Amino acid sequence: MTNQVVNFDKREDRKSSLLKSLSEFSKEHRAAHWAGTFGSFLEHVFPADARGIARTSHQYIWDMMRSDGFDDSQGRFRCQLFEDELYGINDTIERVVDYFKAASAGSEVGRRLLLLLGPPSGGKSTMVILLKRGLEEYSRTDAGALYGIHGCSVHESPLHLVPHTLRGQFRSTYGVEITGELCPYCVSRLQHEFAGDFMQMPVQRIFISEAGRVGVGTYAPHDPTTADIADLVGSVDLSKVSEFGDEGDPRAWSWSGAVFAASRGMLEMIEILKVKREFLYLLLTLTQEKNVKVSRFPLIHLDETIIAHTNLAEFRKFLQEAENEALLDRMVIIQVPYTLSYKEEARIYKKLTSSTQAFREVHLDPHALHVAAVFAVLTRLHEGDEREAEQAKKVRLYGGEDVEGVPQSEVEKIRARSPEEGLAGVSPRFVINALSGAIIQSSTKSLTTMDVLIALKDAIESDVRMDGKKKRKWIDYLVTVRKDFYNRWVKEDVHKALFVSFEQEAQQLLDKYLDEVEATLDNRTVKDPITNEERKPDERFLRSVEEKIRISESGKLSFRQEVVRKAMGAFKRGEKFTLDSHAPLHDAVEQYLFEQRRDVLRLVSSSTRPDEETRQKISVVEKRLVDEYGYDPHSAREALNYVTTLLAQE
Ligand SMILES: Nc1ncnc2c1ncn2[C@@H]1O[C@H](COP(=O)(O)OP(=O)(O)OP(=O)(O)O)[C@@H](O)[C@H]1O
Ligand SMILES: [Mg+2]
Ligand SMILES: [Zn+2]
Repeated sequence: MTNQVVNFDKREDRKSSLLKSLSEFSKEHRAAHWAGTFGSFLEHVFPADARGIARTSHQYIWDMMRSDGFDDSQGRFRCQLFEDELYGINDTIERVVDYFKAASAGSEVGRRLLLLLGPPSGGKSTMVILLKRGLEEYSRTDAGALYGIHGCSVHESPLHLVPHTLRGQFRSTYGVEITGELCPYCVSRLQHEFAGDFMQMPVQRIFISEAGRVGVGTYAPHDPTTADIADLVGSVDLSKVSEFGDEGDPRAWSWSGAVFAASRGMLEMIEILKVKREFLYLLLTLTQEKNVKVSRFPLIHLDETIIAHTNLAEFRKFLQEAENEALLDRMVIIQVPYTLSYKEEARIYKKLTSSTQAFREVHLDPHALHVAAVFAVLTRLHEGDEREAEQAKKVRLYGGEDVEGVPQSEVEKIRARSPEEGLAGVSPRFVINALSGAIIQSSTKSLTTMDVLIALKDAIESDVRMDGKKKRKWIDYLVTVRKDFYNRWVKEDVHKALFVSFEQEAQQLLDKYLDEVEATLDNRTVKDPITNEERKPDERFLRSVEEKIRISESGKLSFRQEVVRKAMGAFKRGEKFTLDSHAPLHDAVEQYLFEQRRDVLRLVSSSTRPDEETRQKISVVEKRLVDEYGYDPHSAREALNYVTTLLAQE
């Protein structure tokens, strides 16, 4: 077969597999439709899942969350819905999940409006979008089947048709409580079309759909001065008044408001504190009493969950007005801060960049996103008098790294000391914009960490919203990022690339160190593996490893005892004692090995015109950087040059 034929076949394979997935997708999504009279609904549909059909919107959302939930390694409930899209804000997500769990169980919180409060582009909208998409999906599953009165603008539950006098019987027969009244439109229709015979009212399965305005409503205030409450609750439809002859006829009402669309599901209120107080009262009553008042009609029963969001500036303004205090009592406020883990922050950039064509064509060196993320986290930390080194330490701790002297178990306490951390500082959007700028300017299709640092500096300097003092401070953070993070990372890459098999050599060295230490502590001799001669432990070797991490002559004994203790511990647990078991020893072993290979790096800088042999050695290192450490040829060369310069300064 020629190459062309092979390629053609592959293409066809791909096409047919795409078609297959598309048709499977649509099959899954062609969930069972159902339509019939209320009488037939009661006979054929309701008894099979009485509880499911009588669910409130809070219970429905909680069931949706549970349907794709799982318990993580610590036994905490996690929701798959958020996992792939929201990073580093697990505490916030947990609080949202808890809200729904409690509301679903009938707690008072279900009568309060859920308000997400956080800094700009911190994921509030994303969280709400995920919930909406989750509801749409769930309503297409068997477990998420929802039914509504056909033709009703609020797709209300058919159970509202059951007269109050019979509801007690329903409770005793099916164990479900029916709450809620028929809407004015259905009341009128029942009289006019069915002469009051509710068993004949049409019912159908409904599917939540934001585009179709079923079960999802969204309201964003445009101009608060012209905003009309009609956007929320509709208004008289003048074209229909003549047909029905009366403005008070519910059939002449335009049921287009967001609260109606959201019925049975969720209403998203964007920038809620920007709306008029009149709106706010309406929404709070809706959450608390489950009804709205529309002129000329009796109260309209609506069951929906309101999720609102706002930023901190707006919230502080709102707090300043005393009369708002009572309103706050009727909200559950959950903060959505920026993440403080630089690793999670970098994942956000990865997600945002991988969905953009311009980024996909450009190679980023393996630390480019991490340095940007460290910078972002630094700007989010408490602005006390803490010194740079302390802040760098904090970033590493929050990122889940081991820091000497501070166990990870302390992290929660440290976090609790500065609750405002994560509520201000650089947003993911700021960083992404800076990166985009750098990409547009670069012609190489390869962005190095240094390019990214420069792009961030430019972005800070050209930001008109920032004063000079803040700019200087943030630029200082960039220096910290480079000194305390990037230099360490890039040196480690280059150093490792100097070895054919770094891990193996490092482990051998560690084993040797441990053997010699045990022998000294026990006052034993060591048997040379080659000559089989017994010799005294190699104190010179031990010291040369220990000096790499500045273990003093007087401190060596306790250091060695501690190492042996850890090694014994690992041995007892049936684990291997590796470099990862002991952070200081890790550094020491690495440095010891690097010292041995320094000559190669010296060659990079010393010879302006390297000979064939030198060039060969250098290109082997570059190749390893590319093959094993995520660089491309351009960034590998840059990294080598950079590390060489660093070494020259040491
Ligand atoms: N913790 C996070 N995890 C994953 N992505 C995030 C996170 N925070 C923000 N993002 C991403 O940043 C972008 C902006 O977030 P989003 O629009 O949800 O923020 P917001 O809080 O609604 O902001 P605003 O107050 O400006 O409306 C989105 O693309 C979102 O995916
Ligand atoms: Mg938003
Ligand atoms: Zn109705």
